[in-house]
Amino acid sequence: MLPASQTPERIEVRTSSRPSTILVGTGALDALAAHLDEAGVGRRRFIVSNPKVWRLHGARIQQALGDAPVVLVPDGERYKTVRTTEKIYDALIAGGADRGSAVVAVGGGVVGDMAGFAAASFLRGITLAHVPTTLLAQVDSSIGGKVGVNHALGKNLIGAFHQPAVVVIDPGVLSTLPRREFRSGLYEVVKYGMIASRPLFETLTKKTRAVFKHDPDVLLPIVAASARIKADVVSADERESGLRRILNFGHTVGHALEAETHYRRFRHGEAIAWGMLLAADLGVARGTLPEADRAALAALVGRLGPLPPVADLPIAGILAAVKRDKKVVNSRLHFVLCTSIGTTDVVDDVTEDELTAALVRLGLSGI
Ligand SMILES: NC(=O)c1ccc[n+]([C@@H]2O[C@H](COP(=O)([O-])OP(=O)(O)OC[C@H]3O[C@@H](n4cnc5c(N)ncnc54)[C@H](O)[C@@H]3O)[C@@H](O)[C@H]2O)c1
Ligand SMILES: [Zn+2]
Repeated sequence: MLPASQTPERIEVRTSSRPSTILVGTGALDALAAHLDEAGVGRRRFIVSNPKVWRLHGARIQQALGDAPVVLVPDGERYKTVRTTEKIYDALIAGGADRGSAVVAVGGGVVGDMAGFAAASFLRGITLAHVPTTLLAQVDSSIGGKVGVNHALGKNLIGAFHQPAVVVIDPGVLSTLPRREFRSGLYEVVKYGMIASRPLFETLTKKTRAVFKHDPDVLLPIVAASARIKADVVSADERESGLRRILNFGHTVGHALEAETHYRRFRHGEAIAWGMLLAADLGVARGTLPEADRAALAALVGRLGPLPPVADLPIAGILAAVKRDKKVVNSRLHFVLCTSIGTTDVVDDVTEDELTAALVRLGLSGI
């Protein structure tokens, strides 16, 4: 038994495919073996990580899991491929993995998505546990069961739904995360505030300094609140037929900004921050979002730090990227808009003219 102070917060994800438990607690990694045992994660565990994460946190994981085999995959989005996944299969086969074996993904979203895809496909699916080590992975990518890899022609084109048996989140590991990566994850937390929780939004606004200092009394509840929002949305709509779309707030234009700049200029969250600012502006222009709420979002995004510029980007290029996105139906766009901080509405009638005008107001050059 763990002392009560170390008992992690428990969040259940209830989907038809398999129940999944999220544990959030400072120090949760030290009891990793007990958490995996409790979740029924098989005794034959294969750890997948990358060299950077393993150098920083491997000793602690190894102390918890003993001599479980470790597969290190190269660090970086460009390695999130079928080819790298084959290295994971190689290690599973060489290590004698069977249907009772499990993959334990230790890393950010890249490691989690790829190790998760290996677990989803090896022997038609073996058990998966996530130990997310970036803020983005802790509040977003490790929750919900989407796993996959990129293809040369597009991001995340190859994948599956595969719910982890357990996600063990220890915000303590974030202390080694570069500040820009940390901020990138914070924008997804801002998104959760915007779509579902004014209190979360306000905590982030009032306690920005403590958040950046990684004060566990502030950071832990923020991570847990975010994970809970994602878990609740996924529980209601595992396969993104309805409600889950609200998680795409800020993502229509965010994805277009990333694509237009060939994924080099923005960290994902930074592009989403611009996308949220645009969506809020659109809401105000339509009279569906109070101006005060738009201003509060702009102020919070400003407090979190500078964003890479957008002013030089061509509106036509962004519009084309938005149209390539799957959300275009009859030249009317599906758009997630907030109706206040904490409430959302998905509309399907945003016109190109409205979007162009909002991009101009965001500061894009228009050419
Ligand atoms: N499956 C989903 O639902 C979902 C949702 C959102 C994003 N994603 C995917 O997530 C990926 C992005 O994830 P990410 O932002 O975590 O990037 P990432 O996995 O590339 O991690 C960012 C960097 O931080 C390093 N790192 C990880 N943990 C660290 C730590 N504790 N200390 C220091 N450095 C650390 C990594 O090695 C890497 O260099 C993308 O591929 C995206 O498609 C998936
Ligand atoms: Zn995102």
